[in-house]
Amino acid sequence: MASLKAHLAVEMTGSNRQEPWEACRLGKRLTPSPGPSEVLVRVLCTPVNPANVFALQGLYPTWLPKEGIEGISVIVWKLSWSFGQRVIPLSDNADQTGQGLWQEFKVVPATRVISVPDFIPNEVAAQFIVNPWTVIGIFRTLATPKEEYILQTAAASVLGRMFIQYAHHQGVKTINLVRRNEHIEELKAHGADEVINFNDGDVVAKVRKITGGRMAYGAIDCVGGELTKGWRDCLIYGALAGTDLKAGILDLIFRGVKLEGFHMGMWISSFSTEQFQELVAHAMSLLGQKVIEPLVGQKFRFQDFKDAIKEESGTEPQHGGKVRLVSE
Ligand SMILES: NC(=O)c1ccc[n+]([C@@H]2O[C@H](COP(=O)([O-])OP(=O)(O)OC[C@H]3O[C@@H](n4cnc5c(N)ncnc54)[C@H](OP(=O)(O)O)[C@@H]3O)[C@@H](O)[C@H]2O)c1
Repeated sequence: MASLKAHLAVEMTGSNRQEPWEACRLGKRLTPSPGPSEVLVRVLCTPVNPANVFALQGLYPTWLPKEGIEGISVIVWKLSWSFGQRVIPLSDNADQTGQGLWQEFKVVPATRVISVPDFIPNEVAAQFIVNPWTVIGIFRTLATPKEEYILQTAAASVLGRMFIQYAHHQGVKTINLVRRNEHIEELKAHGADEVINFNDGDVVAKVRKITGGRMAYGAIDCVGGELTKGWRDCLIYGALAGTDLKAGILDLIFRGVKLEGFHMGMWISSFSTEQFQELVAHAMSLLGQKVIEPLVGQKFRFQDFKDAIKEESGTEPQHGGKVRLVSE
C-alpha cells in the first residue's frame, strides 16, 4: 500500500499489573491507503474499557483485546458515496495486525463498518459495542420473567447503569449494589427499583425483605471476591476486585447455586448473520431512542493516553463515566 503520512498510535509493548499505562507507548505508524474493498477512517473517539486495562495488566489467559476495541470514526478516503459518513468499525479477530482503534487513522474492510445516524453523538456511538451488546447478552442469557428481580454488583458502572435502564424497559426489576451513598438516588432516577450500599451490611437479609423471601431470580456480578458468597444463581462477567471469587461449597451442594461466566465476544461468536444484524439493529435503536444512555466521561488526546488509562484503572475512579481518547 502507498502511504500518505504518519499518524499517532497507542501500541501495547507488554504487560504491567500495577501500572498498566506503562505497558504501552505512543508510536507513529505510516497511514496506509485503502485497497479496492477498504476504506480509510479517521478515528474521532475511542473509549478506554476495563478490558483494555486487563489486557495491559496481562490478565487475559487467551483472548487479547486490541488497543482500542470500539470507537467512532469518519470515512476520509475511498468510496465517494460514503466520504464523510460516520461509522463504527467492527473489530475483526481475523485481522492479526494487532491494530485497534487507539490510533488516528485505520484502514478497514468496507463491509465491516456500521453507519451511524446523525442524531447519535460521537461520544455515545463510540460506546456502541462493548457495554450495550453485553447488557443485551446478559439479559437474554438470564431470561428473567417480567416483574422478577435481578441483583447486580457495581451498579453505578457505565454498564450497570445501562443494565438498570434496559431491565426497567423490559419490565424486570433490579436490586443494585453500590459502595457509595451518593449513587443511591442517582440510580433510582435511572429506573433502579432498589439500591443497597453493600458496606452497610447484610445484603442477603435486605434482598430477602425486598423480595418477600423469594430472593432474586438471578444475579450478575463483575466484582468478584467475597461479594457474591451465599447468593443464588449468578452470571459472572467481570473481575473488578481481582480474578478470584469466593463461593460457599455448601451453597453449591445444598442450595443448588450455579455460577456461570459470560463473555460478550464468546456470546456472539456463534451468531448467524441474521442474529448479528438483529443485535446491531436492536442496540442502535436502544441508543437512538435513549432507552439506554452510556455515561460519558473525561476526554483525553491520544498523546495523553497514560492519563486516560490511569483514570480508567484508578482504585478511586472519578466516576464521570467512560473515559475516551479523541482526535484533535
Ligand atoms: N464479560 C464481558 O463480556 C464484559 C463486557 C463489557 C464489560 N464487562 C465488565 O463490566 C464491568 C463494568 O464495565 P464498565 O465499562 O461499565 O466499567 P466502569 O464504568 O469503568 O466501572 C467502574 C465501576 O465499578 C465499580 N467498582 C470498581 N471496582 C470495584 C470494587 N472493587 N468493588 C465494587 N465496585 C467496584 C466502581 O464503583 P464506584 O463508583 O463506587 O467507584 C464504578 O461504579 C467491568 O468489570 C468490565 O470488565 C464485561
